[in-house]
Amino acid sequence: MSELNLILLGPPGAGKGTQADRLRADFDLPYYATGDILRAAVKEQTDLGREAGEYMGRGDLVPDELIGKVMLERIDSDEARDGFVLDGFPRTLGQARELNDALEGLERRLTATLLIDAPDEEVIRRLSGRRVCRDNGHTYHVEFDPPKNKGFCDQDGSALVQREDDKLETVQHRLEIFHEQTKPLVDLYEKEGLLRHFDGTRAPDEVNGHIRATLATLRLEEQL
Ligand code: AP5
Repeated sequence: MSELNLILLGPPGAGKGTQADRLRADFDLPYYATGDILRAAVKEQTDLGREAGEYMGRGDLVPDELIGKVMLERIDSDEARDGFVLDGFPRTLGQARELNDALEGLERRLTATLLIDAPDEEVIRRLSGRRVCRDNGHTYHVEFDPPKNKGFCDQDGSALVQREDDKLETVQHRLEIFHEQTKPLVDLYEKEGLLRHFDGTRAPDEVNGHIRATLATLRLEEQL
Protein backbone atom coordinates (compact mmCIF):
# COMPACT_ATOMS: atom_id res chain seq x y z
CA MET A 1 0.00 0.00 0.00
CA SER A 2 1.18 3.58 -0.67
CA GLU A 3 2.40 5.76 2.19
CA LEU A 4 0.35 8.46 3.93
CA ASN A 5 2.85 10.99 5.31
CA LEU A 6 0.96 13.79 7.02
CA ILE A 7 1.60 16.97 8.98
CA LEU A 8 -0.98 18.57 11.29
CA LEU A 9 -0.43 22.34 11.31
CA GLY A 10 -2.28 25.14 13.08
CA PRO A 11 -2.17 27.65 15.93
CA PRO A 12 -2.01 26.46 19.53
CA GLY A 13 -5.45 25.34 20.61
CA ALA A 14 -6.87 24.93 17.09
CA GLY A 15 -7.62 21.29 17.89
CA LYS A 16 -4.64 19.39 16.41
CA GLY A 17 -4.37 17.01 19.38
CA THR A 18 -8.16 16.58 19.54
CA GLN A 19 -8.30 15.60 15.89
CA ALA A 20 -5.23 13.39 16.17
CA ASP A 21 -6.96 11.39 18.94
CA ARG A 22 -9.92 10.81 16.62
CA LEU A 23 -7.76 10.04 13.58
CA ARG A 24 -5.77 7.43 15.45
CA ALA A 25 -8.97 5.49 15.92
CA ASP A 26 -9.68 5.61 12.16
CA PHE A 27 -6.27 5.32 10.48
CA ASP A 28 -3.58 2.92 11.52
CA LEU A 29 -0.68 5.38 11.43
CA PRO A 30 1.93 6.22 14.06
CA TYR A 31 1.37 9.67 15.57
CA TYR A 32 4.30 11.81 16.71
CA ALA A 33 3.43 14.95 18.67
CA THR A 34 6.38 17.10 19.65
CA GLY A 35 4.49 18.62 22.60
CA ASP A 36 3.75 15.15 24.08
CA ILE A 37 7.30 13.94 23.45
CA LEU A 38 8.79 17.04 25.08
CA ARG A 39 6.40 17.00 28.06
CA ALA A 40 7.27 13.33 28.68
CA ALA A 41 10.98 14.23 28.55
CA VAL A 42 10.41 17.04 31.07
CA LYS A 43 8.52 14.66 33.39
CA GLU A 44 11.28 12.05 33.19
CA GLN A 45 13.96 14.75 33.56
CA THR A 46 16.02 13.48 30.62
CA ASP A 47 18.75 15.72 29.12
CA LEU A 48 16.27 16.80 26.43
CA GLY A 49 13.59 17.50 29.05
CA ARG A 50 15.89 19.57 31.26
CA GLU A 51 16.87 21.75 28.32
CA ALA A 52 13.42 22.00 26.69
CA GLY A 53 11.42 22.64 29.89
CA GLU A 54 12.66 26.20 30.30
CA TYR A 55 11.62 27.24 26.77
CA MET A 56 8.24 25.48 27.03
CA GLY A 57 7.35 27.10 30.36
CA ARG A 58 7.80 30.54 28.75
CA GLY A 59 5.83 29.53 25.65
CA ASP A 60 8.94 29.83 23.45
CA LEU A 61 9.93 27.27 20.85
CA VAL A 62 12.75 24.95 21.82
CA PRO A 63 15.78 25.33 19.51
CA ASP A 64 15.53 23.53 16.16
CA GLU A 65 18.57 21.37 16.87
CA LEU A 66 16.93 19.89 19.99
CA ILE A 67 13.72 18.76 18.29
CA GLY A 68 14.84 17.89 14.74
CA LYS A 69 16.84 14.77 15.57
CA VAL A 70 14.09 13.43 17.87
CA MET A 71 11.49 13.63 15.10
CA LEU A 72 13.65 12.44 12.21
CA GLU A 73 14.61 9.30 14.13
CA ARG A 74 10.90 8.46 14.48
CA ILE A 75 10.14 9.05 10.79
CA ASP A 76 13.00 6.73 9.86
CA SER A 77 11.71 3.92 12.09
CA ASP A 78 10.11 0.61 11.05
CA GLU A 79 6.71 1.53 12.48
CA ALA A 80 6.57 4.65 10.25
CA ARG A 81 7.36 2.73 7.05
CA ASP A 82 3.76 3.01 5.75
CA GLY A 83 3.28 6.59 6.89
CA PHE A 84 3.04 8.90 9.88
CA VAL A 85 1.16 11.87 11.35
CA LEU A 86 3.35 14.68 12.69
CA ASP A 87 1.78 17.13 15.14
CA GLY A 88 3.85 20.18 16.09
CA PHE A 89 6.70 19.53 13.66
CA PRO A 90 7.83 21.31 11.60
CA ARG A 91 7.16 24.63 13.28
CA THR A 92 9.83 26.85 11.72
CA LEU A 93 11.15 27.20 8.17
CA GLY A 94 14.42 25.65 9.39
CA GLN A 95 12.56 22.57 10.66
CA ALA A 96 10.61 22.33 7.39
CA ARG A 97 13.89 22.30 5.43
CA GLU A 98 15.31 19.67 7.76
CA LEU A 99 12.24 17.46 7.27
CA ASN A 100 12.29 17.92 3.52
CA ASP A 101 16.00 17.00 3.28
CA ALA A 102 15.49 13.95 5.49
CA LEU A 103 12.53 12.71 3.42
CA GLU A 104 14.46 13.26 0.18
CA GLY A 105 17.34 11.25 1.65
CA LEU A 106 14.90 8.41 2.35
CA GLU A 107 13.33 8.77 -1.12
CA ARG A 108 9.99 9.60 0.47
CA ARG A 109 7.74 12.65 0.28
CA LEU A 110 4.94 14.36 2.17
CA THR A 111 1.39 13.43 1.16
CA ALA A 112 -0.31 16.51 2.66
CA THR A 113 -0.24 19.17 5.35
CA LEU A 114 -3.57 19.44 7.19
CA LEU A 115 -4.07 23.02 8.39
CA ILE A 116 -6.60 23.30 11.23
CA ASP A 117 -7.24 26.99 11.64
CA ALA A 118 -8.92 29.08 14.34
CA PRO A 119 -8.80 32.81 15.19
CA ASP A 120 -6.79 34.06 18.18
CA GLU A 121 -9.82 34.87 20.37
CA GLU A 122 -11.16 31.31 19.93
CA VAL A 123 -7.75 29.85 20.79
CA ILE A 124 -7.67 31.87 24.01
CA ARG A 125 -11.16 30.68 25.01
CA ARG A 126 -10.21 27.10 24.32
CA LEU A 127 -6.86 26.99 26.05
CA SER A 128 -8.16 28.66 29.20
CA GLY A 129 -10.76 25.85 29.48
CA ARG A 130 -8.54 22.96 28.39
CA ARG A 131 -7.87 20.17 30.85
CA VAL A 132 -5.55 17.22 30.22
CA CYS A 133 -5.30 13.95 32.10
CA ARG A 134 -2.29 13.54 34.33
CA ASP A 135 -1.33 10.05 33.17
CA ASN A 136 -1.65 10.13 29.38
CA GLY A 137 -2.45 13.69 28.33
CA HIS A 138 -5.94 12.94 26.92
CA THR A 139 -7.57 16.28 26.20
CA TYR A 140 -10.91 17.80 27.33
CA HIS A 141 -12.53 21.22 27.58
CA VAL A 142 -14.60 22.21 30.60
CA GLU A 143 -17.37 23.56 28.33
CA PHE A 144 -16.88 22.29 24.75
CA ASP A 145 -15.70 18.72 25.35
CA PRO A 146 -16.29 17.81 29.02
CA PRO A 147 -15.52 14.37 30.46
CA LYS A 148 -18.44 12.21 31.61
CA ASN A 149 -17.06 12.24 35.13
CA LYS A 150 -16.14 15.81 36.13
CA GLY A 151 -12.40 16.18 36.86
CA PHE A 152 -11.45 12.68 35.65
CA CYS A 153 -10.37 11.17 32.33
CA ASP A 154 -12.94 9.01 30.50
CA GLN A 155 -10.18 6.82 29.05
CA ASP A 156 -7.90 6.06 32.01
CA GLY A 157 -9.64 7.58 35.06
CA SER A 158 -6.68 9.81 36.03
CA ALA A 159 -7.17 13.37 37.35
CA LEU A 160 -7.58 16.24 34.89
CA VAL A 161 -5.18 19.19 35.29
CA GLN A 162 -4.42 22.49 33.55
CA ARG A 163 -1.25 22.68 31.46
CA GLU A 164 1.43 25.03 32.79
CA ASP A 165 1.63 26.89 29.44
CA ASP A 166 -2.16 27.44 29.23
CA LYS A 167 -2.01 30.55 31.47
CA LEU A 168 -3.30 33.62 29.64
CA GLU A 169 0.04 35.53 29.22
CA THR A 170 1.79 32.38 28.05
CA VAL A 171 -0.99 31.59 25.57
CA GLN A 172 -0.72 35.13 24.15
CA HIS A 173 3.03 34.69 23.76
CA ARG A 174 2.57 31.28 22.06
CA LEU A 175 0.19 32.93 19.60
CA GLU A 176 2.76 35.64 18.76
CA ILE A 177 5.35 32.95 18.15
CA PHE A 178 2.90 31.06 15.93
CA HIS A 179 2.25 34.14 13.77
CA GLU A 180 5.96 35.01 13.49
CA GLN A 181 7.60 31.63 13.11
CA THR A 182 5.05 28.98 12.12
CA LYS A 183 2.60 30.89 9.88
CA PRO A 184 5.21 31.12 7.05
CA LEU A 185 4.86 27.33 6.71
CA VAL A 186 1.26 27.83 5.56
CA ASP A 187 2.52 29.77 2.51
CA LEU A 188 5.32 27.28 1.92
CA TYR A 189 3.03 24.23 1.82
CA GLU A 190 0.37 26.14 -0.11
CA LYS A 191 2.95 26.91 -2.84
CA GLU A 192 3.98 23.26 -2.89
CA GLY A 193 0.34 22.24 -3.42
CA LEU A 194 0.33 20.18 -0.19
CA LEU A 195 -1.96 22.29 2.00
CA ARG A 196 -5.50 21.20 2.90
CA HIS A 197 -7.56 23.70 4.95
CA PHE A 198 -9.98 22.77 7.76
CA ASP A 199 -12.16 25.17 9.71
CA GLY A 200 -11.17 24.46 13.31
CA THR A 201 -14.06 26.54 14.67
CA ARG A 202 -16.52 23.77 13.72
CA ALA A 203 -17.47 21.13 16.29
CA PRO A 204 -14.76 18.46 16.83
CA ASP A 205 -16.79 15.68 15.14
CA GLU A 206 -17.51 17.87 12.15
CA VAL A 207 -13.82 18.74 11.70
CA ASN A 208 -13.05 15.03 12.03
CA GLY A 209 -15.58 14.20 9.29
CA HIS A 210 -13.95 16.70 6.90
CA ILE A 211 -10.46 15.37 7.61
CA ARG A 212 -11.55 11.76 7.16
CA ALA A 213 -13.15 12.56 3.81
CA THR A 214 -9.98 14.35 2.66
CA LEU A 215 -7.74 11.49 3.78
CA ALA A 216 -9.92 8.92 2.06
CA THR A 217 -9.57 10.91 -1.19
CA LEU A 218 -5.81 11.30 -0.73
CA ARG A 219 -5.43 7.58 -0.14
CA LEU A 220 -7.36 6.83 -3.32
CA GLU A 221 -5.23 9.33 -5.28
CA GLU A 222 -2.02 7.77 -3.89
CA GLN A 223 -3.16 4.36 -5.13
CA LEU A 224 -3.79 5.60 -8.71
P1 AP5 B 1 2.28 21.65 21.74
O1 AP5 B 1 1.89 20.72 22.80
O2 AP5 B 1 2.48 21.14 20.34
O3 AP5 B 1 1.27 22.87 21.77
P2 AP5 B 1 0.51 23.67 20.63
O4 AP5 B 1 0.86 23.50 19.22
O5 AP5 B 1 0.60 25.05 21.15
O6 AP5 B 1 -0.83 23.00 20.57
P3 AP5 B 1 -1.77 22.67 21.70
O7 AP5 B 1 -1.50 21.32 22.25
O8 AP5 B 1 -1.84 23.80 22.72
O9 AP5 B 1 -3.16 22.76 20.93
P4 AP5 B 1 -3.92 21.77 19.94
O10 AP5 B 1 -4.04 22.42 18.60
O11 AP5 B 1 -3.37 20.38 19.99
O12 AP5 B 1 -5.36 21.86 20.60
P5 AP5 B 1 -6.19 20.79 21.43
O13 AP5 B 1 -6.64 19.67 20.54
O14 AP5 B 1 -5.50 20.42 22.71
O15 AP5 B 1 3.66 22.37 22.11
C1 AP5 B 1 3.94 22.85 23.43
C2 AP5 B 1 5.31 23.51 23.47
O16 AP5 B 1 6.34 22.56 23.08
C3 AP5 B 1 5.54 24.69 22.52
O17 AP5 B 1 5.04 25.90 23.06
C4 AP5 B 1 7.08 24.66 22.41
O18 AP5 B 1 7.68 25.22 23.53
C5 AP5 B 1 7.40 23.20 22.37
N1 AP5 B 1 7.44 22.64 20.99
C6 AP5 B 1 6.57 21.74 20.45
N2 AP5 B 1 6.91 21.46 19.17
C7 AP5 B 1 8.00 22.21 18.88
C8 AP5 B 1 8.81 22.35 17.71
N3 AP5 B 1 8.56 21.69 16.59
N4 AP5 B 1 9.84 23.21 17.77
C9 AP5 B 1 10.11 23.90 18.88
N5 AP5 B 1 9.40 23.80 20.02
C10 AP5 B 1 8.35 22.96 20.03
O19 AP5 B 1 -7.50 21.67 21.75
C11 AP5 B 1 -7.45 22.81 22.62
C12 AP5 B 1 -8.74 22.89 23.48
O20 AP5 B 1 -9.85 23.17 22.63
C13 AP5 B 1 -9.08 21.56 24.20
O21 AP5 B 1 -9.60 21.87 25.46
C14 AP5 B 1 -10.15 20.90 23.29
O22 AP5 B 1 -11.03 20.09 24.05
C15 AP5 B 1 -10.84 22.11 22.70
N6 AP5 B 1 -11.27 21.89 21.33
C16 AP5 B 1 -10.57 21.25 20.34
N7 AP5 B 1 -11.25 21.26 19.18
C17 AP5 B 1 -12.39 21.96 19.43
C18 AP5 B 1 -13.50 22.35 18.61
N8 AP5 B 1 -13.55 22.00 17.30
N9 AP5 B 1 -14.49 23.08 19.16
C19 AP5 B 1 -14.44 23.42 20.50
N10 AP5 B 1 -13.42 23.08 21.32
C20 AP5 B 1 -12.42 22.36 20.79
